[in-house]
Amino acid sequence: MTGEKLLYIETFGCQMNASDSDKIASLLKGVGYKPTTDSARADLIILNTCSVREKAEHKVYSQLGRLRELKTETRRLLLGVGGCVAQQEGERLLKRVPWVDLVFGTHNLHQLPDMVRAAERGERRAEVQFIDAETRLDLFPRDDASGSVTRFVTVMQGCDNFCSYCIVPYVRGREISRRSAEILDEIQNAVSDGVKEVTLLGQNVNSYGLATPGEISFAELLRKIAAIDGLERVRFTTSHPKDISADLIACFSELPKLCGHVHLPAQSGSDAVLTWMNRGYTRREYLEKIAALKAARPGIQVTGDFIVGFPGETEEDFLQTLSLMEEVCYADLFSFVYSPRPETKAAGFADKVSRKEKQARLERLQALQLEMTLERNRTFEGTRQRILVEGVSKRGDQLFGRTDGNRIVNFTADPSLVGAMVEVDITRGYPNSLLGEIVNP
Ligand code: SAH
Ligand code: SF4
Ligand code: F3S
Repeated sequence: MTGEKLLYIETFGCQMNASDSDKIASLLKGVGYKPTTDSARADLIILNTCSVREKAEHKVYSQLGRLRELKTETRRLLLGVGGCVAQQEGERLLKRVPWVDLVFGTHNLHQLPDMVRAAERGERRAEVQFIDAETRLDLFPRDDASGSVTRFVTVMQGCDNFCSYCIVPYVRGREISRRSAEILDEIQNAVSDGVKEVTLLGQNVNSYGLATPGEISFAELLRKIAAIDGLERVRFTTSHPKDISADLIACFSELPKLCGHVHLPAQSGSDAVLTWMNRGYTRREYLEKIAALKAARPGIQVTGDFIVGFPGETEEDFLQTLSLMEEVCYADLFSFVYSPRPETKAAGFADKVSRKEKQARLERLQALQLEMTLERNRTFEGTRQRILVEGVSKRGDQLFGRTDGNRIVNFTADPSLVGAMVEVDITRGYPNSLLGEIVNP
């Protein structure tokens, strides 16, 4: 092999993909590739793709179009596509985009070193077959990136919920929970490395362990993690409302290390739409869980996701979504226009909402949320917050960290404080962040 080769990874989509990209970088070190941030110098470019909405998929194809030019100009450039679009398209992608050298699915990361070697010899391959549960457990992504204060720890993969609009169960496969002993071991090591906060990651963390005989529940896992000495904070994402158990809610009053924030996507405020979406809860059940969470941890910050313009959604249904937002009083939201996805049930539903109407509803929802987020952020003015200092801000003149409730706070202080827990007096609330002054610098 001649010298060191450079690898450029572009990541789309969610945190699962970001974790997979770290894993890809570490696997490809073994075949001589070193990460670079300059795509123009790369010998291998990998797009780690997302397919959750049509727009995300289109982005991948336009990026592939741009990379084609880079490829003709460069002497030796290999192009790989992984992630959820790769999983969805497989061989079709190799045919459709002749300048792509390799395609690997969401279960095939471990085959990548072999595939890259084959591509270096001029072989084009697509590997997208799902693997068995035992092998998946052995190959669970282990996050060993060093040097940061916070870390994501994957505790489960895949999803069995089959919400009628969602492609994730098709591209990520069946739900599987990682062995709890391994999770605890990884967090213990991370803490020895200086990590102060972990976020437990999965499509639906609340159902952790339920399908695995002998495994502990998510609430028990949280209790064991919170008992690790030296760890300051635990968060988790994402939660499914139907699986938030009373035992899990109790953790919010029992465990001070468990941060006062929950991301609990409702998707819609209308019972009719929730039924069509196959979400498994009613508006009332959702609100009962929110009330229980607020009782267990006063001041808990709730965030969520909503889809507008689901097939059949009427103005009346949409107004139910807006009223749910006001009842819950979300700290922040992600909101999307419904996008039909291949293989999903809803793609075949009639009674589509016009594109113009969908867009108008999205804008109304976002305007309301912006107002509520700003109002919420202003209520922090004059309060004192405990912040874990995560780093130096992009502008370079401030430090940033998050409150217990997951609001970003910027403040001026010495960079040696990165990694420390500090107290900050909040002076100003903005739409996306808070500004503060450190107490006893
Ligand atoms: N497992 C997580 C997140 C899945 S994808 C959960 O269940 O909450 C993230 C968000 O994308 C979803 O919460 C949903 O709001 C949105 N989404 C998924 N499929 C979509 C589609 N077909 N059209 C529009 N938004 C979609
Ligand atoms: Fe998709 Fe529903 Fe699974 Fe979330 S819970 S990943 S929205 S199918
Ligand atoms: Fe996208 Fe796949 Fe994540 S579809 S949201 S990258 S699981």
